[in-house]
Amino acid sequence: MQKLEVFGAKKLKGQIKISGSKNASLPILAATLLSRKKIHLKNLPKVKDIQTMLSLLKSLGSKIKVKKNETIIDNTKQRKKFASYNLVKTMRAGILVLGPLLAKFGSAKVSLPGGCAIGTRPIDIHLKALSKLGVKYKIDQGYVIANATKGLRGNNIRFSKISVGATENLIIASSFAKGTTILSNCATEPEIKDLVNFLNQMGCKIKWTSKRTIKIIGVSQVIKTSYSIMFDRIEAGTYLLAGAVTEGNLKIQNIIPNIIKTEIDILKKIGSKIIIKKNEVQIFGNKKIKGMKIKTAPYPGFPTDLQAQIMVLLCKAKKNSVIQEDIFENRFMHVAELNRMGAKILINGNKAIVKGDIKFVSAELMATDLRASVSLILAALTAKGKSVINRIYHLDRGYEDIEKKLRKVGAKIRRVN
Ligand code: UD1
Repeated sequence: MQKLEVFGAKKLKGQIKISGSKNASLPILAATLLSRKKIHLKNLPKVKDIQTMLSLLKSLGSKIKVKKNETIIDNTKQRKKFASYNLVKTMRAGILVLGPLLAKFGSAKVSLPGGCAIGTRPIDIHLKALSKLGVKYKIDQGYVIANATKGLRGNNIRFSKISVGATENLIIASSFAKGTTILSNCATEPEIKDLVNFLNQMGCKIKWTSKRTIKIIGVSQVIKTSYSIMFDRIEAGTYLLAGAVTEGNLKIQNIIPNIIKTEIDILKKIGSKIIIKKNEVQIFGNKKIKGMKIKTAPYPGFPTDLQAQIMVLLCKAKKNSVIQEDIFENRFMHVAELNRMGAKILINGNKAIVKGDIKFVSAELMATDLRASVSLILAALTAKGKSVINRIYHLDRGYEDIEKKLRKVGAKIRRVN
């Protein structure tokens, strides 16, 4: 199994170009199922989760051509409506094909994704909302078997809790429902806005009517489209934090700074110097880091997907910090490994009490999930000597060319078998 070796205590310096967003690409790929025309997508990141979604689409009958700068999805002859456990089990976003398959065919059988390391992650909100569009479903042997014999019908739906995936599934499904759908208490992550832009460009009729409310007028067909996916804001935040923890000087490029305003403001408060340009943010890490209280929250709050990475920075603060995880119930798996590197983090329910003024020491480590893996790299980058990170297949799910990008800015990092 592949591992990463990191030789730390080097200040990172230079430029990093951010790839396309994994979390925007996944629902957009699922939404291509609505179309019977060719769709050209640019800026899909070259990461494992995207390959898994492409395999899932192929298993449903999509024809896919991957070229250097674009991926062409041809669903003219796509007929299958069965998403197997083998493909959905490795990536929860597989459940996003349920909405478009129901919209297109009126029935579908999709594997339940199951839990994962960071929590139980049910899909009850997706299913309850789909039933309001006229879907009847049962769960049988680990599969959702769903039918809408009279087709999907628009309705007023209020999500009981803000969910990124449920909002996406319902936007896609309602785009082809008869009549008008109003979705309220929606997630407003930039990736959802990207999905809406993509669908509207395909001819769907979707409008944000207030901060968390969307109005969708159903259509029955869509047009040929070419679309470029937004930048990955979690990748951008991760490299900003790499600049901060190594007290380096990094220019993070190909981004829209305003989308990551919350993260930039927090980094400034903690003590980093930041220069914002049109499509670039430059960070100068600082030795003096202030402790902070941070809570994860739906966008525009601080993202749960950067919680592990910012914890590494807060370990170096002069005072103690508290990080409250309000999205997932079990997202502190990285803490045990960070503590093995010399951190002093205590877990109390959904709070992590992070003792400051820590110097990380190198160690052999085990990655547990995607963002936990990258937090271990950040800690290893600050520690003298060699750290070895095992189970990096988690990392490959979501970070394109991470070793290459880090090496380019001076990190000593390599993949070994
Ligand atoms: C998406 C992101 C993930 C990010 C998360 C929160 C993708 C592919 N993944 O995941 O990287 O960490 O948003 O920003 O975009 N919940 C339920 N029932 C449901 C659905 C969700 O109880 O039917 C709960 C979840 O367990 C979690 C919370 O709601 O506690 C938020 O989850 P959700 O926003 O749905 O996350 P995902 O879409 O799975």
